Amino acid sequence: MQIQDAVASRHSIRAFLPTPVDPEAIRKVLTLAARAPSGGNLQPWHIDVVTGDALAGLRAQMRRNLMEGREPEPTEYDIYPPHLRSPWRDRRFQVGEAMYARLGIPREDKAARRRWFANNFDFFGAPMALFCSVDRSMGPPQWSDLGMYLQTVMLLLRGEGLDSCAQECWAIYPVTIGKAIELPPERMLFCGMAIGHRNREHPVNGLVSDRAPVEEWLRFRGA
Ligand SMILES: Cc1cc2nc3c(=O)[nH]c(=O)nc-3n(C[C@H](O)[C@H](O)[C@H](O)COP(=O)(O)O)c2cc1C
Repeated sequence: MQIQDAVASRHSIRAFLPTPVDPEAIRKVLTLAARAPSGGNLQPWHIDVVTGDALAGLRAQMRRNLMEGREPEPTEYDIYPPHLRSPWRDRRFQVGEAMYARLGIPREDKAARRRWFANNFDFFGAPMALFCSVDRSMGPPQWSDLGMYLQTVMLLLRGEGLDSCAQECWAIYPVTIGKAIELPPERMLFCGMAIGHRNREHPVNGLVSDRAPVEEWLRFRGA
């Protein structure tokens, strides 16, 4: 696959087929993705892959938590800035509305929106998942390195015919996930990622999120 095709065909997939994913393919992707650059070559990423029984167990536990109406746990980092302003606030709102429009769930139907959101905690039906964590001593530059690693993973997954959805929603269950993957106390959970084959029939996967016009964020000097 050409790099351009991998970039263009990567979308966040929110409905997966149950088709299994070969653990060896994932090992290959995760290993090659470590060629991603990182400041000072720190390679600050830590990855836990969860599949098979472990994934089934976590799914069941999340289902129980949600059914019992368990409150989310305190987050360990701000998923968004506390006072998200325009244009970022608008972009967030817009992608959410575009997704719910595809699902036919109106704004007023908060219960249906909550039910849909809960699919996150089923990894959208994916047969494989990973969690990314980082040593608590690391700062913003190293967190950006995590992003480089994760995007490299998502592009290489396309090369294997696989799809993904990065999932920061797991940051609202840091204790549950910390226990499930036996995260050492010095490490902080950043996000999860659902991995599998996209369900082409599902309307949510037809969402192609907008991008701001380049004039909003790009400047050339001297060209
Ligand atoms: C770090 C990160 C965390 C994300 N967390 C979630 C999530 O919890 N649930 C979800 O449905 N999408 C999540 N997304 C997907 C974004 O909403 C998506 O990337 C964005 O809307 C752009 O759409 P695209 O990925 O299809 O291009 C996350 C993306 C990133 C990069």
